[in-house]
Amino acid sequence: MSAVKTIAILTSGGDAPGMNAAIRAATMVATSFGIEVYGIARGYRGLLDGQLTRLGPNQVDNLFREGGTVMHSTRCLEFHEVPTRDRARKVLRDHGIDGLIVVGGNGSLAGALALSDPGEAGDMAPRVIGLPASIDNDIGFTGMSIGVDTALNTIVEACDKISDTASAHDRTFIVEVMGRDCGYLAMTAGIASGADLVLFPEANRPAEEIAESAVRAVLANRQHDRKQGSTLIIKAEGVHVATAELKSMLDARLRQELGGESNEIETRVTVLGHVVRGGRPSAFDRLLGARLANVAVRALAGGETRRMASWMPPVELPEEVGYRTEYDPYCWLVDLAAALAETENLIGGNSPLARWRASVLDGLEDVFTL
Ligand code: F6P
Repeated sequence: MSAVKTIAILTSGGDAPGMNAAIRAATMVATSFGIEVYGIARGYRGLLDGQLTRLGPNQVDNLFREGGTVMHSTRCLEFHEVPTRDRARKVLRDHGIDGLIVVGGNGSLAGALALSDPGEAGDMAPRVIGLPASIDNDIGFTGMSIGVDTALNTIVEACDKISDTASAHDRTFIVEVMGRDCGYLAMTAGIASGADLVLFPEANRPAEEIAESAVRAVLANRQHDRKQGSTLIIKAEGVHVATAELKSMLDARLRQELGGESNEIETRVTVLGHVVRGGRPSAFDRLLGARLANVAVRALAGGETRRMASWMPPVELPEEVGYRTEYDPYCWLVDLAAALAETENLIGGNSPLARWRASVLDGLEDVFTL
């Protein structure tokens, strides 16, 4: 007997490729259990406005390959207030919904935790399971979030193309990628693209020091013919020096170092921006969305709440914080509050994982320019 009769699913915050795969899988698995499913359009904003539609296999057909989210997404700041959440719980109750799957990042998962707080809501609290979805890979206690793999592949493909033209003209390119608080995409794309320098917010380095690193990378490349003078610098958007400013600082320092010869060195900037967030999900993101959604539905049916379905956590978790599921050995159910606390640490650069990521990249700075 399922602990829930009717569930709803919403996507919230920044969209991520693979969200649609999660919507489809949740609908199919729930339907197979005899659980009714609603899709909530436009995240928490749509929930408040009653934008709910019934979902069944016909509504989610072929969704696996679509980027973005067919349920649309918004950021709803009002949801920080208790009366707003009371209204949301009433909408759920009016539709007979007793379980909710929230697919999103930090803020969206925090909304899910507050909505399901028994201290605040009493017996109006729905059961809630969160799915981590953020291309930034900045959510705690999950090895990967939905959307990261596709975003990374998009960046690597772009950098490969940029490297072709950079090499043709012996140019330096600074490529800016998304990642407001977390440099994961820049770091991993840097390794996968063979970049000469990776700049990420966790390092928190002064602007002059960053510019000096860039100068070193460019000069090192001039000293050997192998790379024919081209240099690839990948910079996360969250690094506090604006990319245009870094280009000016780099060009000025190269003029100092090389005098007349600096005319030969031309720096170009490419900001990949929201291109990184769009596109068809990779096979991995389709599977990740589907497998986490499968676990979420089964967890709700089994009576779980206030958990996040996660993919192979990169740290050991005590049993009370998280456990490997019987439904999928790659998926865990972790305490949502603990996952959010770890997310704060990750974003602030204070978790052991954040420090490890930063130290690996620091150590690679000299290796990259060899
Ligand atoms: O999805 C996360 C993220 O991509 C960040 O890296 C970026 O700063 C932010 O979203 C921008 O999103 P928006 O333009 O939708 O506010």
